[in-house]
Amino acid sequence: MGHRLPGCFLRTRRRPGRRLNGQTVTHTMYAALGFLAASAAGAWAWRHWLPRSFWYLVGFPLKTVRVYLTWRHVAYGCTLTRKRRVWRLSLDALPGLGTASVVIQERRRVRRVDIERAPRLGIMRPTVMGWRVRVRLHDGQIPDDYVKVTERLAHAWRVYAVRVVDSAPGSVTLLATMRDPLTTIDVTPETGDLLTVRPGRLENGRDWVIDFRTVPHWLNAGATQSGKSNLANAIIKGLAPQPIAIVGLDLKGGVEFTPYKPRLSALGTTRGECVGLLDDLVGVLTDRMRICREAGARNVWKLPDHARPTPIVVLVDEVAELFLMADKSEKDEIAKTATALLRIAQLGRAFAVYLIVCGQRIGSDLGPGVTALRSQLSGRICHRVNDPETANLTLGDMDPDALDAARAIAAETPGMAIVAGQDGSWHRARSVFVSEEDAEAAARQYAALAPAWADLVAVDTAPLTEAA
Ligand SMILES: Nc1ncnc2c1ncn2[C@@H]1O[C@H](COP(=O)(O)OP(=O)(O)O)[C@@H](O)[C@H]1O
Ligand SMILES: [Mg+2]
Repeated sequence: MGHRLPGCFLRTRRRPGRRLNGQTVTHTMYAALGFLAASAAGAWAWRHWLPRSFWYLVGFPLKTVRVYLTWRHVAYGCTLTRKRRVWRLSLDALPGLGTASVVIQERRRVRRVDIERAPRLGIMRPTVMGWRVRVRLHDGQIPDDYVKVTERLAHAWRVYAVRVVDSAPGSVTLLATMRDPLTTIDVTPETGDLLTVRPGRLENGRDWVIDFRTVPHWLNAGATQSGKSNLANAIIKGLAPQPIAIVGLDLKGGVEFTPYKPRLSALGTTRGECVGLLDDLVGVLTDRMRICREAGARNVWKLPDHARPTPIVVLVDEVAELFLMADKSEKDEIAKTATALLRIAQLGRAFAVYLIVCGQRIGSDLGPGVTALRSQLSGRICHRVNDPETANLTLGDMDPDALDAARAIAAETPGMAIVAGQDGSWHRARSVFVSEEDAEAAARQYAALAPAWADLVAVDTAPLTEAA
């Protein structure tokens, strides 16, 4: 019996104390499975209830590893790589391997080879919903090369969207967002800063802030049911607690703005009233111009505090109604309206009168003066529109991507809009839902802050002597 199977030999040599019986193995397996299940449940709960800390501590580090490890392939797939010739130590082709008697010839040589080099990826920095990363451009690349491949990058990185958010000479900054930040919006329109409101959120996860002192006049366009009035509600709610005057022009019989009357210093609901109010506003501007001239100030913000007049925000609902001519007798009134609106738009920034003009379509077909007015409204908000032409009209000569994004807004997402400031940048944004009741409640709550119209339009003859 000198011939044993190796397995039998091992079995006889194993010490009894260390023997693994079936029960122990089963217990260990159960324990391991239990541990795995508990970990998975814990991770799920962590991610579900504390998504932010989960993202920063687990999700983001894993994503970072993945992005860096795959960057060369991703950049190649997105045609962002460049061929470079580099010196490499390489092997010549090996002669065929045959029997053991064949001698293998290895000839190492340093030679120049072509390789695909990816642009250098900077340090990934986490954001609430994704990350930002700077990429060094290869020679000959421009930021537009990256704008063109953002969709490819988003698929490769398994994220909702990638956007080029910034560019400096020689580099671009990419922003990746994991999910659409615009599905639920939970911001408060009140900011606590003068002439600044927060009507919603931008696609990059930041608050959408309208600062009238930076961009004084806004065009708010969109088809019916696209969310224009909701945005006006949010703006009214945000402005209501501030020491400013709000004026409404609502030629749809006042149905939109009448509920907010307590906080409005004036409301025009007929053509006659609107023409009168616009006339008054031009008078206010002329008066403020005189005050500034006498004080040697370029604008009202350069005046001493006590002499600074109250800022006025003018909300116009359905601007087309202001320009619609029912019969010839209205021609003069319409011409006056157009001129007054244009003057307010031209002078408003310096003298603290700001315009928000809402409408379905603000094209030259409305009448003379509309194109000039539109060009003065430097802030643009384009909600869902019925035709591409309206998006073009609203957003002007913007990046074609902005126009595509505006045309892609779905009817199921009211409040979604493309927002463009005067610096040429644009964002997808969505307003926070503010019901009429909410805006009405805010208007009633802050009714005492509404300056009387008569006080606003009264010509102030000696505003600067009071303080001395
Ligand atoms: N940001 C938003 N979130 C959710 N619902 C909205 C939002 N904006 C508008 N809505 C809803 O869409 C509908 C149309 O909005 P509205 O502001 O009246 O459109 P418009 O004035 O352009 O005709 C309303 O029922 C409103 O409740
Ligand atoms: Mg409306």
